[in-house]
Amino acid sequence: MESPHALLELILDAVPQPVWVVDHAGHIVFANPAAVAVLGYDDLAELKGKPSHETVHHHRPDGSVYPAAECPLLRPRMTGETVRCDDDWFFRRDGSMFPISWRSAPLALPDGRGAVVAFVDTTERRAAEQVVRERDAAEIRAAESRATGRRIMESATAARRQLARDLHDGAQQQLVSVLLELRLVREELGTDPARALRLLEEATEHTQTAIDELRELASGIHPAILASRGLVSALKALAARCPLPVLVTGAVEVELADEVEACAYFLVAEALTNAVKHSHASRVMVTVTAREPLLTVEVHDDGIGGAAPSGSGSGLAGLADRVDALDGQLTLDSPVGGPTVVVAEFPL
Ligand SMILES: Nc1ncnc2c1ncn2[C@@H]1O[C@H](COP(=O)(O)OP(=O)(O)OP(=O)(O)O)[C@@H](O)[C@H]1O
Ligand SMILES: [Mg+2]
Repeated sequence: MESPHALLELILDAVPQPVWVVDHAGHIVFANPAAVAVLGYDDLAELKGKPSHETVHHHRPDGSVYPAAECPLLRPRMTGETVRCDDDWFFRRDGSMFPISWRSAPLALPDGRGAVVAFVDTTERRAAEQVVRERDAAEIRAAESRATGRRIMESATAARRQLARDLHDGAQQQLVSVLLELRLVREELGTDPARALRLLEEATEHTQTAIDELRELASGIHPAILASRGLVSALKALAARCPLPVLVTGAVEVELADEVEACAYFLVAEALTNAVKHSHASRVMVTVTAREPLLTVEVHDDGIGGAAPSGSGSGLAGLADRVDALDGQLTLDSPVGGPTVVVAEFPL
């Protein structure tokens, strides 16, 4: 059986972990073969007796001088505490640097307290971490660009849908009126030229309105009258252009969001167009009330009823989408035989 001292030396010779001992003055008194090799020396003799800090730790990785007084590595000699660092660098004999992680513990030596340092070359670990970091960054970038692409697509789709609805509920509505008026003109031309002329004038007016609406849409604004005169006036103007008698009642004292105002306007426009096209109604009533927390818009016609979102038309389905997008609620009550009541409620 070897002496404990010899056994310890055998162990230190064999372990792959570099181990290093400094005396009280900070000079190297021991380095195991793993430490000698990793530091690029051939023999312990080349290191023994040299000042540890000035030999392997003299500069920082940024090239600045690393004063021994600021280095915690050998501090256990003074404090008696164990210290560690996972982010440090050592110099090899050839002047090259390598990243290390180290533990340094106080060690009682015959001449006073020294320190024993165990360290690991972390080059590979850092490279692996870098690969992981790069992969994570690439994944985040890819996810971000996917999300951006999706957002762009979604907003383009939403804008297209909005435009389609604005066209449908705005200019298209006016042109439907024009069509109906022109048909009447054809019927009346022989029998009542004076009435035919009046109808032609109305048709001309509606055509002009359609052109105005298209122009507003093209310039990206909602009906200008909404901004200049408010919802109720805009609805009255709409009613005045309708081939059916329409009574608009109500008032809005509160400030409405632009989108809500526009949605309410287009809702009434579509409901009036539907009444003209489908209901055979004799009159329509539009009621607007703004009472916290709701803006309520109701369109009531005394026609034949039976309205339902259909596969062929997009009007009622589009209204539901529009109202839904603003967290509002659309209800359609239209039993066969009538009447038809469309109610939209928007949170204020
Ligand atoms: N006020 C109403 N009175 C009676 N029936 C109606 C009324 N409104 C709608 N309808 C019926 O419900 C169907 C669906 O209406 P919707 O507005 O969705 O489509 P549309 O008016 O036919 O077409 P679009 O609005 O796309 O021009 C209409 O085709 C019609 O049969
Ligand atoms: Mg319709």
